[in-house]
Amino acid sequence: MRICGNSIIIMLLLACSLDVLAFEPWNVPGPEGGRKNPLKADKNVIENGRIFFMNTCKACHGEQGLGNGVIKAADMTTAKFQSQTDGELFYKITTGRGQMPSFKAMNSNDLWQVIIFIRTLAGGAKQVLKKNAMLNLIIDVNKPEKQVTGVVYFMDEAGQKQPLEKIKVGFYVQRMFGLLPVGSKYTNDKGYVRLDFPSGIIGDTIGNLNLVAKLEDAEYKSADALATVKWGLPNTGLKKAERTLWATNKLAPVWLILSFTLTLLVIFGVIIYVLLQVRKIHRLGKIV
Ligand code: HEC
Repeated sequence: MRICGNSIIIMLLLACSLDVLAFEPWNVPGPEGGRKNPLKADKNVIENGRIFFMNTCKACHGEQGLGNGVIKAADMTTAKFQSQTDGELFYKITTGRGQMPSFKAMNSNDLWQVIIFIRTLAGGAKQVLKKNAMLNLIIDVNKPEKQVTGVVYFMDEAGQKQPLEKIKVGFYVQRMFGLLPVGSKYTNDKGYVRLDFPSGIIGDTIGNLNLVAKLEDAEYKSADALATVKWGLPNTGLKKAERTLWATNKLAPVWLILSFTLTLLVIFGVIIYVLLQVRKIHRLGKIV
């Protein structure tokens, strides 16, 4: 920004508004840059780093790390930025400079995680093409335990099933209006998830439930699997039916049938009585 001050006003405005001014080089003392990241990149680390980034860094660095947040900040997608070592980034994040705050007080584990996430920003916003995966359910209805197993895999070029690890599978029960979540799990190294189905969920009249499993992952397209299981409590529903007029006679309580019939008889009786009286008046009129 100092360069602005030395230029003529027009140049200054132009330069500043065009954002052509980069930040001054920021050098890191040798030994600091040599620090190694104690963490390895894996899905959980990247996901935690992403959450931390979105909460703490996005405001200035922008959602995609382009440095286009509420203020101009460093662009994290450039080759120049990415060529720095993890140690150098850690030093800058914990030291701060100018408008870049020092995050020294933060948990260093969080910072090493966010550095791993920042690496995924390289090259700018990439079109995320989700990959295909499949989800199957296995349920042994003969077993007394209410247990559902999901298998997540993809087909490799040779047409072989390859299990997918650490994929989130959410389990739901289908309801009239939407899905009721009953739990979620991550697949193991064989691509399996196992869920102990909760008891006490009400199903249809004989306890049948429609179980829905969903593959929920950032990298893979969502996939659903459905199964009908008799794991619910039977929904007798009688209590409600008893109270309705349109319930069949068999379900209607005696007092309701009686009072309904009586009311009908009274109404028809009054109508017939009125009609008889009218006929009487008519006859009397003829006589006179
Ligand atoms: C208040 C705004 C702001 C926030 C919040 C912020 N930054 Fe920055 N950041 C900046 C600015 C401005 C610079 C450029 C500073 C300079 O070079 O003088 C910068 C520079 C950096 C650099 C050094 C870039 C380079 O190549 O020299 C790194 C690394 C960095 N930020 C990481 C982060 C991380 C990680 C977070 C979240 C934990 C974060 N920043 C949060 C504003 C911010």
